[in-house]
Amino acid sequence: MKEQVYKQFSPEEHRTWGTLFRNLDHCRKEQADTTFSRGVELLGLNASGVPSIKDVNAKLERITGWNGVPVEGLEENGSFFEAMANKKFPIGNFIRDARDVNYTPAPDVFHDLYGHLPFFTDPDYAKFCEEFGRRAAKVKDNPKGMDLWGRLFWFGVEFPLIETPKGHRIFGGGILSSFGESNYCLSDKPEVRPFNIAEIVDRTYKIDEFQRTIFLLGNKLELYDCLPAYEKLVLARL
Ligand SMILES: [Fe+2]
Repeated sequence: MKEQVYKQFSPEEHRTWGTLFRNLDHCRKEQADTTFSRGVELLGLNASGVPSIKDVNAKLERITGWNGVPVEGLEENGSFFEAMANKKFPIGNFIRDARDVNYTPAPDVFHDLYGHLPFFTDPDYAKFCEEFGRRAAKVKDNPKGMDLWGRLFWFGVEFPLIETPKGHRIFGGGILSSFGESNYCLSDKPEVRPFNIAEIVDRTYKIDEFQRTIFLLGNKLELYDCLPAYEKLVLARL
């Protein structure tokens, strides 16, 4: 992972962040799991512009010891999981184009910082991701191993829903940072299946379209406790 100096965002780029943040007001209130919306508040994220990474990290570091680290763009799975094992989360050091806020060519600061970092204010979530990184990084030199761990990240961290007393809520950073996908995933369009690691380990996914299949967690522990069993499934396939 090549750490970069955090970008000096232009006034227009700050406005883009503001637009994206406001577009998701309803999502934070009504569609997101409270773990996420509470995290947004704890980190002090708001519509006024791209936050200072220093301020966000100072808060996050105090709460769970995690840090966001600016990187150029998409990280390879190996260095990504290694970073997570060290309580570091890569943050794309750019923001999408104002002319099409619904599209980003790679994970940008809005996806990474807004979509993921709030979760890391939750001690159980933070511990889960650290362990995720540690177990996955053991096979970082094996492309198939990285592929299989990548599937759990995709279906369990980027795109899961969760059952709550109020109904289905969004529990994935990939959905929460997208206005279009947050509405889509709670509609009757995607196929929603119970979270099941034996299915996930053998399931491929497409990164360039809305997810046709989404997994629904019955509760958070289903995700947090699945790593030893998932590791066995991975190792059995290498
Ligand atoms: Fe992501």
